[in-house]
Amino acid sequence: MSTLQITDLHVSVETEEGAKEILKGVTLTINSGETHAIMGPNGSGKSTLAYSIAGHPRYTVTSGTITLDGEDVLAMSVDERARAGLFLAMQYPVEVPGVTVSNFLRTAKTAVSGEAPKLRHWVKDMRGAMDNLRMDSSFAERNVNEGFSGGEKKRHEILQMELLEPKFAVLDETDSGLDVDALRVVSEGVNRAKEATGSGVLLITHYTRILRYITPDHVHVFVDGRIAEQGGPELADDLEANGYDRFVTAGA
Ligand SMILES: Nc1ncnc2c1ncn2[C@@H]1O[C@H](COP(=O)(O)OP(=O)(O)O)[C@@H](O)[C@H]1O
Ligand SMILES: [Mg+2]
Repeated sequence: MSTLQITDLHVSVETEEGAKEILKGVTLTINSGETHAIMGPNGSGKSTLAYSIAGHPRYTVTSGTITLDGEDVLAMSVDERARAGLFLAMQYPVEVPGVTVSNFLRTAKTAVSGEAPKLRHWVKDMRGAMDNLRMDSSFAERNVNEGFSGGEKKRHEILQMELLEPKFAVLDETDSGLDVDALRVVSEGVNRAKEATGSGVLLITHYTRILRYITPDHVHVFVDGRIAEQGGPELADDLEANGYDRFVTAGA
């Protein structure tokens, strides 16, 4: 059992007018096997939280801590975080021209696990995972995210999660831009990966519809860089019916 613990996290970004505080004291504990949904309006700092966990250099942690099984995550480089078992599915995945999906995945798997996967097993695992995500096998030879549709990019993010088997996966709006069928396929991928490895999942979303496929154990409402309210799955139903207005007004 692993625990990812975020305590009173404050994060700033450098802007033209100087440093701007985006996260204003976030406290959150996730254990293996748990799914936590972070829901909130646009601009509330959800992606900033995701990037801060992953170690994006643009975001400066001014105070607070992030630990993984007691180890100081903030002291780790981005690749050390990945090796420690943290994974981020990005809201806007980046293109990597000249690097094929197949090469990228195998390199990432080798870096994360510390040894190259046996080729025969690897090809089988990759094909199996791609089949499950309804990705044509020709994707393996395409350049990472180059010319991918929105839905294909999101499938590729979950393909990484399935193959890299992280301890904790942060999924930043993996549902955005997906039609109903793709949403189901991607959600099933997340559930499969979770079941296979017992990962903890931090599911960041603006909309409640993905929560019909991935049931959260805990729901956190994120407003203006803070958690404004927490509850169980019923809180998502409340948000579905009533939106974020009462939290935004209360936070303002
Ligand atoms: N690099 C940046 N420079 C300036 N402002 C930023 C930067 N990154 C994020 N912000 C601001 O921080 C706030 C939170 O952004 P973000 O974390 O992307 O929110 P969310 O993912 O909830 O929509 C927004 O007001 C956004 O404009
Ligand atoms: Mg975002």
